[in-house]
Amino acid sequence: MLFDERPKTRRQELFDRDIEIEGIKSNVDRPLLVISGIRRIGKTSTLLVALNELGRDYVLIDCRKLKENYGRQDLYNLFSSSFSTVVDKVKGVLSGVRGVSILGNSIEFKWKGRDSVSLADLFDHLNGKRLIIAMDETQKLRGPLSKEVREAIAHAYDYDRNLTFILTGSEVGLLYDFLGVEDRESPLYGRYYYQITLDRFEKERATEFLRKGFDEISAKVSDEETEKLVEFFDGIPGWLTFGANRFLEGRKIEEVREIAIDVALNEIENLIETKRRVSEIVGRRYKNALKCLALGENSWSKLSNCLQRAEGSTMSSSVLENIITNLEKSSIIKDYEFLDPIYGEASKRLS
Ligand SMILES: Nc1ncnc2c1ncn2[C@@H]1O[C@H](COP(=O)(O)OP(=O)(O)OP(=O)(O)O)[C@@H](O)[C@H]1O
Ligand SMILES: [Mg+2]
Repeated sequence: MLFDERPKTRRQELFDRDIEIEGIKSNVDRPLLVISGIRRIGKTSTLLVALNELGRDYVLIDCRKLKENYGRQDLYNLFSSSFSTVVDKVKGVLSGVRGVSILGNSIEFKWKGRDSVSLADLFDHLNGKRLIIAMDETQKLRGPLSKEVREAIAHAYDYDRNLTFILTGSEVGLLYDFLGVEDRESPLYGRYYYQITLDRFEKERATEFLRKGFDEISAKVSDEETEKLVEFFDGIPGWLTFGANRFLEGRKIEEVREIAIDVALNEIENLIETKRRVSEIVGRRYKNALKCLALGENSWSKLSNCLQRAEGSTMSSSVLENIITNLEKSSIIKDYEFLDPIYGEASKRLS
């Protein structure tokens, strides 16, 4: 079903994205592919449809499950639970490996001590077969252990020719920071990777998507209502799907928008909360910056003025620059504009 709210796994449930899927399929023998795009744009769906069509063995590691300051135990737990889902496919190459125990349907990794297994070792053993390692929301691997993970991926890039890494990320700048493809100090610096960037649908495609989805379930929806949904959600497929479902549940069209804004507000508050964990002041500055941006303060000087008024205090340019850079790296804004209009609306309502 086109409006199923879970990530899609089959092409017939996925609207468009044929070029991107073919791109993934025809480049899957490269060592590294990167799928990027803002939240709700369809990264996981595109990845899963391509993987299913390829019919090759793959393991999916959902890095969103990692908490912010994850430790080695958390990382290995994530790997263990991910590899346990494909135990039959990998037990041939992992059985008997030091630090790896295969018990029924689960694979456990020893992460500490003399007989532990490192990620680089693990990749070398997995290289005994052709395997795709897909990591969803890879930027979450940033953090204290990022160097170790990055080095293991870089090692596999050079030596493990049977492995392909497909990485996705919605906080695009953070993803590239993690990979370090532009950082001379990083082992992945200058390495070629095949890049897929998912963009929002143009107005016409978005309208077509909604019509097709409504037709599929024989829902009679007026052109005017369909257009309103397109207008609210700016061609972002996740929001279109979300909006269509709320509408089909009987919500009025304006209400649908409010519900989406509430969802976005919650996500923004979570983001601010992560900043607040650094300090109260940092949290407050991000909140004020988002509010100023939402009010249309779309240049350095306007934003600076607005923030200083909100804070009742001067603010050094390096502090402001830092905030802007981080919001850009998290794919919240670009050139002082919100990438997702629903995030912009929600930010106006920050209290
Ligand atoms: N091309 C598409 N056709 C049909 N539905 C889609 C399409 N792209 C995304 N969706 C739907 O939109 C929602 C978000 O998709 P998905 O989870 O794949 O996006 P994502 O970019 O991985 O999002 P997130 O950043 O939140 O992880 C899901 O409900 C999915 O079914
Ligand atoms: Mg996703």
